Formats: sequence, structure tokens, C-alpha cells
Amino acid sequence: MSVTVAVLSLKGGVGKSSVTVGLAGAAWESNRSVLVVDCDPQANSTLCLDVPPHTFTLSDVLADGRPGIAAEAIVPSGWGPRVHAIPAEEALAHRDTSTIPSSAARLRLSLTGVADRYDLVLLDCPPSLGELTRNALAAADLALIVTEPGFFALRGAEQALRAIDVASTSINLGLRPAGIVINRVRAHLNEHAFRIAELTRAYPNLVLDPVIPERTAVQQAQGAGVPVQAWPSPGAREVTEAFDDLLEALLAGRAATTPTISTAREQR
Ligand SMILES: Nc1ncnc2c1ncn2[C@@H]1O[C@H](COP(=O)(O)OP(=O)(O)O)[C@@H](O)[C@H]1O
Ligand SMILES: [Mg+2]
Repeated sequence: MSVTVAVLSLKGGVGKSSVTVGLAGAAWESNRSVLVVDCDPQANSTLCLDVPPHTFTLSDVLADGRPGIAAEAIVPSGWGPRVHAIPAEEALAHRDTSTIPSSAARLRLSLTGVADRYDLVLLDCPPSLGELTRNALAAADLALIVTEPGFFALRGAEQALRAIDVASTSINLGLRPAGIVINRVRAHLNEHAFRIAELTRAYPNLVLDPVIPERTAVQQAQGAGVPVQAWPSPGAREVTEAFDDLLEALLAGRAATTPTISTAREQR
């Protein structure tokens, strides 16, 4: 069965694209088919997936809007035969505003008959609650919130949950929150432990286990256009384990309640 997951936070730089490609890598490693739809004009996940030159992008898909048209924009990734992408480009920014109420449904319509061909479809959102994120929320089965363990985490999660709530009572009645994934965790920092405890207290049923550690390997693999799962370092293996568990939890529809922070010495 296919699952479509929107990866969102209203804040930039917290790791939406990293979690998107991390989950895509976990799917790649477990021989599942995955389609990454890059809904962010910054096109970071497009870059990480090492896609070949392309001309038809998500921007063209949304401009066209016909049912199933997304198939025309699918490109293979450099990761292997089961990992595909619908790339983003800067021009996608023009699609982030709309005055037409029905325009939030364009992505969902365009994916008609397309999403079902994959085990997993990941929608990497831009850091705003504009039309692109609304399109992603309208097209998804699950909404995964990404946050860092920082001062703004609680407020950010609250805003994202409200957006999911609004979407699930208007443009997509089938939408459910998948949970809150805490990214870039440094186990030895008291501040991080404090923020994780704070988030868990506020959302005991939504904070996901495991958290994703901060490791240089994430950036190294992204820079090389390969899955972190293929990066040869101890840090990459820690991140790989976390994404494997997160993917299994997502696909099983589990939202664990107690995040564990690895006490292993940080390896960089
Ligand atoms: N777990 C992590 N460990 C190390 N670096 C990370 C991690 N998650 C994200 N980053 C880095 O942080 C930066 C922002 O992450 P990104 O995924 O692009 O955020 P967003 O998509 O939310 O804007 C990138 O340079 C990325 O490589
Ligand atoms: Mg991003």
C-alpha cells in the first residue's frame, strides 16, 4: 500500500529536506520504491537526489494541473532504479500564492494514478504556510512535522499542528499528523534534553522515537548526492539507524511516545 507523507515545518533550516532524503534513503536501503516530490523552490532535495538535467518540473505540473500530469515530471535519481523525483526549480516560488480556493488540490489531482505506483511518496515542503505547503497537505495521507530541539520548537510545532488541523477539516479530510520528528540532536547538550522533554510534555503522543542525531555525515552525503545510508562513517550509521526506525514507525502508523537520546559518544 502506498503512503504519501508531507514533511513540513514553518521554519527554514530545521531539516525538512534532510528528513525527506533521509527517509528516501531508508526506503532505498529496504528496497522500497519511493518518489520524492520537491515542493520547495530552493530545490534542496532535488540536489541531494542527484537527478539528471530536467526541463519539466513541479512548477509546470502545478501550472498544468491535469489529473495524472505529475507522471510527466518524474525523473530517475542518481540513487538507483527505485528512487524517483519530481524536481523543483526557482520558478516554483510563483506558485506559492493563489487567490483561487481550488488551487490547493492541484498537486493531489496531478498525482492521481501516480502515487499508487510507489511504496512511499515524500512531499518536501517549503518553510512557509503558503500555497505550496497547502498543496502538499491536500495531497498527503500523513503530515510529519520536523523541528530542532531549540527555543522555537514548541511554538513551531504548535503552528504546524494548527495548519494540519485546518487542512484536515477543509482541503483533506483524510489527513493525519504522523508526529513530530526532532532533528539535529546533540545528546550531550542539556539544552537539547530540556527542549525534548518540553516537547514531549506538550505532545506526549506525537513526539516520535527515535530522534535524529546531528552528524556531519548528513551534510557530507548530501554534498556528494548519495544516501546517508551509503556513507561510510560511524556517524552515518547512527543516522541510518534512526531513519530506518522512523520509516518503519511511519509505515506502521505508529507514533511512539518516549524519545530516547543516545548516550553514545558523539562521532563526527
Ligand atoms: N541531522 C543532521 N545532522 C547534520 N546536519 C544536518 C542535519 N539535519 C540537517 N542538517 C543540515 O542543516 C541544514 C539545513 O537542513 P535542511 O534539511 O536543508 O533544512 P530545511 O529543509 O528545513 O530548510 C543543511 O545544511 C543540512 O545539511
Ligand atoms: Mg528544505
